[in-house]
Amino acid sequence: MRLDRRSLLLGTAALAAGASTRGFAQEQPGLRVQARNHGLVYGTCTDTNTLRNDPDLSAAVRTEAGILVAEYETKRSHVEPAPDAYDFGPTDFIAGFARANGQLMRGHTLVWHASNPSWLEEALASRPDEKLMTDYIRALVTRYRGRFHSWDVVNEAVEPEDGSPDGLRTSSPWHRAFGPGYIDTAFHAAREADPSTPLFYNETNVEGDERWFAKRRAATLKLLEGLVARKVPVQGFGMQGHLKLYRSRYSQATVSRFLDEVSAMGLKILVTELDVADIAGPADPARRDADVAALTKSFLDVCFSKPATLGCLTWGLSDKKSWLSTTKGYQWPDGQLSRGLPLDADCRRKPMWAAIADAIQYKHA
Ligand code: XIL
Repeated sequence: MRLDRRSLLLGTAALAAGASTRGFAQEQPGLRVQARNHGLVYGTCTDTNTLRNDPDLSAAVRTEAGILVAEYETKRSHVEPAPDAYDFGPTDFIAGFARANGQLMRGHTLVWHASNPSWLEEALASRPDEKLMTDYIRALVTRYRGRFHSWDVVNEAVEPEDGSPDGLRTSSPWHRAFGPGYIDTAFHAAREADPSTPLFYNETNVEGDERWFAKRRAATLKLLEGLVARKVPVQGFGMQGHLKLYRSRYSQATVSRFLDEVSAMGLKILVTELDVADIAGPADPARRDADVAALTKSFLDVCFSKPATLGCLTWGLSDKKSWLSTTKGYQWPDGQLSRGLPLDADCRRKPMWAAIADAIQYKHA
């Protein structure tokens, strides 16, 4: 693992001092309770199939999560599979589950370069009309007005590999259709539809030490600074947190400096999609579990040390339902499950669960 040595030592030591990975009991309060007791929120993405048909995992979602987000069912390809044929059902269902269980809900995501229906891709390419974006935002945000914790208005607009001086994802169908101004337009449309729900910009791969990550951080800060300078209604930054344990290097200093720059703009911070890819790790799952926990602890300690940080969502709760296990670049070639989430495939708490619990406690250390 290429975790910065100091952080690894910090993380491992704190982990050992806190709930021992073997000693933590399954009956400890859920992370939702522990987070709330420390002024934070913890939650997870989920989906209607899990909530309807998986009693173990849906029970764990109830126990552990204080906030929910749809893993994919609030994406445009699911909400508007055909022009003006909206399907709010799945998002309504998840929002109803959250309400029934005293959980918050956040919206993800209104404008992304991926998960768009083909009719939209074609329309953006052939007859770009901003209403293709603003009408959709208005319909979705109005429906949940005042009921969501926050919205990810624009997701992953940065891609320095596209070669633009501003580091934006010029290959995005939205950028191709409307230029960089689509980002401002999206936020204004969301604010027009809902006067108060906090609006977030969400970005991935800004966490590591390598130059590739540094270029993405620089472009993200430039984007956020521009939004703030133009008084675009943005209140928060979502740092996805898809960490690549054995393929990238992480240090608390890098993450700390970046989050200080974000909070200096007056923005709230939320870790929105934390998981830890264990691909290319040692064969022994217990060793990978300990390494995943150490990186989680080190990463969240620095995130939770920032007053602007609201909390953390993991991108799933149990290894049995993890994006990592089915995504190229993260998945194991032999088909074994990634072990990058707080619960194992039997929904039992793993060392990563203890690491999150310890990081929450550490916030007040
Ligand atoms: C992924 C989901 O996990 C998949 O189920 C879906 O098919 C595609 O989207 N960054 C994001 C998330 O912001 O929305 C993505 O989620 C993962 C990467």
